[in-house]
Amino acid sequence: MLKNELDVSLSKAETLKEKPDQDNLGFGQYFTDHMFVMKWSREQGWHDAEIRPYEDFHIAPAAMVFHYGQAIFEGLKAYRGKDGAILLFRPEDNLKRLNNSAVRMCMPRIPVSKVLQAMKGLVYLDRDWIPEGEGAALYIRPTMVATEGALGLRPSSEYLFFIIKSPVGAYYAEGFSPTRIYVEDKYVRAVPGGVGEAKTAGNYAASVKALTEAQQKGYTQVLWLDALEHKYVEEVGTSNIFFVINDELITPPLGGTILAGITRDSVLQLARDWGIAVDERRITIDEVIAAAEDGTLTEAFGAGTAAVISPVGEFGYQGKTIMINNGKTGALSQRLFDGIQALQRGMMQDEHNWLVRVA
Ligand code: COI
Repeated sequence: MLKNELDVSLSKAETLKEKPDQDNLGFGQYFTDHMFVMKWSREQGWHDAEIRPYEDFHIAPAAMVFHYGQAIFEGLKAYRGKDGAILLFRPEDNLKRLNNSAVRMCMPRIPVSKVLQAMKGLVYLDRDWIPEGEGAALYIRPTMVATEGALGLRPSSEYLFFIIKSPVGAYYAEGFSPTRIYVEDKYVRAVPGGVGEAKTAGNYAASVKALTEAQQKGYTQVLWLDALEHKYVEEVGTSNIFFVINDELITPPLGGTILAGITRDSVLQLARDWGIAVDERRITIDEVIAAAEDGTLTEAFGAGTAAVISPVGEFGYQGKTIMINNGKTGALSQRLFDGIQALQRGMMQDEHNWLVRVA
């Protein structure tokens, strides 16, 4: 077999798991019956691709991922659309972004169209797990980890790529209700020249301390500021951040420290389609606060695959509380939330060919 050619074998689970209560899915707590797995080695490239029952891996304690953290992942969702259609939203963009992360982390790239093909087969096989409720979806988690058992620091010569799936409801306990966000001025998420734009596990591990401390103070998430000056706004929790100031939609530009969110890109495109002025520019926390105080900042929200659109009701910064739109969901946040959900479920014209039909 040629390198990068995928011949996917299938072994089905003998017994299927009981499905969870659709009204209490939470996020990422249940896993479907099957997963996709393939291996990479320097000699063979990608090989042993298979769809098989969801089960534990057998991995060496010396596997490099456990010691030096060569791990990257993606997040996307499968939706139940009209007439029972099964739809994926921009899946190629996720797989291409995984390859960008792979390059940054010295890991091998995956063959995008072959993996997409396998993903579609996997989703179809577990189609009864796609929840139907409003806001619910089947979350898909493609992941790659370094598996060579060795302790010298260098790129691993072996990797495992897998795709698991989880039926999910809203990411935050608040659902779509406005969140309380702590403006983090001590810990940072990403430094210029670092790995901030890669979707690598270490970025998430490094963020947990700030999240935990913010939650202890009663906040849902943190707003990250830049690492050099603690001045420019970067991301909110695990999502990209947007502000509406003087009716203009503003988000920080991608510059190496910010994840190139696919929901971020979709929000920008939809806003442009709707004739809304859009600006990708650096914005300081002082400008955000001044605009909130003089009433020109009317909305703030996060955008990400897991959280979709998550309105911000208030920011807490250096002991001050800054209310946004009196703590209520703004009109554009609501329109984007409704629009993106409708689009993802095939209930709105798909002008940009973002949907991929599984069945
Ligand atoms: C996503 O939004 O899909 C993410 O990867 C964030 C994760 C922490 C759930």
